[in-house]
Amino acid sequence: MISYKHEPFVDFTNEENKKAYQEALQTVEGYLGQDYPLYIGAEQVTTDEKIVSYNPADKQEVIGRVSKANRDLAEKAMQEAVTAFESWKKVKPEIRADVLFKAAAIIRRRKHEFSALLTKEAGKPWNEADADTAEAIDFLEFYARQMLTLKDGVPVQSRPGEFNRYDYIPLGVGIIISPWNFPFAIMAGTAVAAIVTGNTVLLKPASTTPIVAAKFVEVMLEAGLPAGVLNFVPGSGAEVGDYLVDHPKTRFISFTGSRDVGLRIYKRASEVNEGQIWLKRVIAEMGGKDTIVVDKEADLELAAQSIVKSAFGFSGQKCSACSRAVIVEDVYDQVLARAVELTKQLTVGNPVENHFMGPVIDQAAFDKIMSYIEIGNQEGRILTGGEGDSSKGYFVQPTIVADVDPQGRLMQEEIFGPVVAFTKAKDFNEALEIANNTEYGLTGAVITTNRLNMEKAREEFHVGNLYFNRGCTGAIVGYQPFGGFNMSGTDSKAGGPDYLQLHMQAKTTSETY
Ligand code: SER
Repeated sequence: MISYKHEPFVDFTNEENKKAYQEALQTVEGYLGQDYPLYIGAEQVTTDEKIVSYNPADKQEVIGRVSKANRDLAEKAMQEAVTAFESWKKVKPEIRADVLFKAAAIIRRRKHEFSALLTKEAGKPWNEADADTAEAIDFLEFYARQMLTLKDGVPVQSRPGEFNRYDYIPLGVGIIISPWNFPFAIMAGTAVAAIVTGNTVLLKPASTTPIVAAKFVEVMLEAGLPAGVLNFVPGSGAEVGDYLVDHPKTRFISFTGSRDVGLRIYKRASEVNEGQIWLKRVIAEMGGKDTIVVDKEADLELAAQSIVKSAFGFSGQKCSACSRAVIVEDVYDQVLARAVELTKQLTVGNPVENHFMGPVIDQAAFDKIMSYIEIGNQEGRILTGGEGDSSKGYFVQPTIVADVDPQGRLMQEEIFGPVVAFTKAKDFNEALEIANNTEYGLTGAVITTNRLNMEKAREEFHVGNLYFNRGCTGAIVGYQPFGGFNMSGTDSKAGGPDYLQLHMQAKTTSETY
């Protein structure tokens, strides 16, 4: 494979970078409030009904409006995708990959602009927005290269007088349902994985962050993607989402979002509807209830830093976020006290001013998080945070709840906000047991200097992404393939060596001569 290196992160202590970001914020401010169409085949369709995207840090500010698809338009987009599949599947993999390389180059040229848009639309502080854009670029670069390695299939054995081949062919039309928390990286990554493998797609982005998705569609067209390959159909889950998931021409669904929506899709996709001649494939990345375990033999400063960063980065709104800290009793008080101290130093505010934490995404998220803080009050001791203010934007203070029972709701249910529960374990074995006691299995981290305990965790800590002596967020494409076990999804490892194959089917041919 042509060498791949992840996109470096921008250093915002550098004055030039700071200035460039501020200019990019101005560029974005210059186009706020615009309308964006649907893309259906070669047509740009404008509807009267719109999905309006607001700035979560300043809820009066409109980021933009996208046209809203309904069932008829979704059906039209499906027909376009079905037609386009017939030609796109025959386009050489090298050419498909080239579209991704070009799109990556265009995004790299406008990198700060995209990040600034994420700061405005998703409430991401600068470094979080920059990481999201970098990850989008990484997915494009990585999957394009990966396709080049798979284009001639995988070698298989042949006996004398026989010529066997094992090739991957595309599946058909895919439905991409993407989340608001990585509204650029995951949206773009899931779409292009499907596209580069020769499928055509219908992209339904999260309704809170559709503008960055609309901008991405523009980039893909500029990079030379033929009409009909990427159809853009923002709409409601109940109307457009269900309709497309149920559609007999849908061949696969690539979903990232909550456990409940994931289960709904999985169930509906298992039904064989009239005119359907295949079993739909589901690629699902769902929730997490991720734990950092701290051993008694450990760098305790590193432990506290890792917990705080993983719990409160992007306001805890990552499926990989640390929402549970399980600490061996010998060092519990010390780590807890230091984590509280570090948390009190964090600033919360409008991310255009680059605070450590910005807002949470919307009123529903704010209300849900505040209700869990209330539960935290009953289940444990709130040592810092606990407050929220949704008068201008949806701001919640980073919150630490101590002494929560391992079976408590705060230790079991996904909150998706800046709330972390601390629990004491009598020893490392018990800490691992607690770490494994949820229905999820996405990420986890272990802070220890004890090699044998580390190896024990490697075997027994049942998560898709396990980290040692660091936090549990921030997987890098191609370096830490990302995806989880159990109710965290289908363990489809995004940015991993076998991700693209999930979007294809293998065909064996055997010729006798
Ligand atoms: N890939 C992200 C992370 O590792 C989460 O979606 O934090």
